[in-house]
Amino acid sequence: MALKDSGAADRMSADPTKTVHVGLGARSYDIEIGPGLLGKSGNLIASAVPNARCAVVTDETVAKLHLDVLKESLDRERLFLGSTVLAPGEATKSFTSLSGLCETLLGLEVERGDAVVAFGGGVIGDLAGFASSILRRGVRLVQIPTTLLAQVDSSVGGKTGINSPQGKNLIGTFHQPNLVIADTDVLDTLSKREFRAGYAEVFKYGLIKDAGFASWLEDNWTGLFTNDTQARIRTVEICCQAKADIVSEDEREHGSRALLNLGHTFGHALEVWAGYSGRLLHGEAVSIGMALAFELSAELGLCPQGDAERVAAHLRAVGLPTEIKDIEGEDRPDATALWNHMAQDKKVVRGKLAYILVRGIGQAYVSREIPDATVQNFLARKCER
Ligand code: NAD
Ligand code: GLY
Repeated sequence: MALKDSGAADRMSADPTKTVHVGLGARSYDIEIGPGLLGKSGNLIASAVPNARCAVVTDETVAKLHLDVLKESLDRERLFLGSTVLAPGEATKSFTSLSGLCETLLGLEVERGDAVVAFGGGVIGDLAGFASSILRRGVRLVQIPTTLLAQVDSSVGGKTGINSPQGKNLIGTFHQPNLVIADTDVLDTLSKREFRAGYAEVFKYGLIKDAGFASWLEDNWTGLFTNDTQARIRTVEICCQAKADIVSEDEREHGSRALLNLGHTFGHALEVWAGYSGRLLHGEAVSIGMALAFELSAELGLCPQGDAERVAAHLRAVGLPTEIKDIEGEDRPDATALWNHMAQDKKVVRGKLAYILVRGIGQAYVSREIPDATVQNFLARKCER
């Protein structure tokens, strides 16, 4: 993390835009981060994805707030092919939406050299990304993420997918975008709850392997929530750089990329239990999952108890849930059902679950050594409280 050093440079620079490069050989691309980029997206796409006409996929909320600016910018470059507006929410990441979307895109006559523009949060990014990877056996993709979560995580790295009753993101592809445009101004219209949910993924980068960033967030998180543009740009840049480094090293998740799933094995199981509903947002599930991963690590004597307490305290200070009992509503998940959902995790190899555990803040690692009974007992206690 280089927050202090670059602060002075940022203040002197006329153009606050930052570029993070994702190095993947022929599939390399840039992530442009800064205020006001939506109005420049036509220009950015024209130079990074030459000759691509753009079919925009978005959701109703984002369309009402921001589609006009994007459309105007694409029109100025004569790139706008059409747009389609889907229902907001996790339930849109389904086979039904995918097939409808593919047919709409074919109806717009999207060709191989054209681009699908995923304009929205992680739901639109994952669904439109998936459609772009199978349409005509793969068309180009531009991600324009509009939530904090999508800017720091889901728009980068090429994972696309949909959910099924068996689990989250179990059906999908790896399909890298050709360009990512993260306009930090569009975050102003996000609800507090959605902003907080995205913050869980921000804090995750500190918890995985950057203890300095985690400490900085503990001291400076309020700036992020109160429209401090510099803090937002730097935060998105640091997270994207961290993800770019991991993805460049392990694009297909054979090793270090699994660390990005800290908190996700527990979190995904909770999302399935909550029925992919607004009752529990993805980032909220990840927040509970990260707190549980630290707690389990501390119980197993792998991580200092103080670190687990510090992580939970910070997530709570931000307003995020850290325990299963924090989920709204009277009913509680059944530990066996949660365990069965966890067993569907993509990291399972021959029935053996991999866990992202921690030796402390900034020291996540992958373990396949934890006996099933240990986790089942832990879950049973967590579901009781
Ligand atoms: P989301 O896409 O549902 O967006 C959250 C809500 O915010 C939606 O209601 C949306 O309409 C609204 N919204 C979006 N932008 C807005 C804006 N600028 N102003 C006002 N409202 C806005 O959810 P999300 O949290 O962005 O993404 C969660 C999804 O991302 C999950 O499905 C998760 O599995 C996926 N994900 C994927 C990856 C990956 O690597 N592909 C990584 C992390 C998460
Ligand atoms: N969000 C997990 C990954 O991209 O690998």
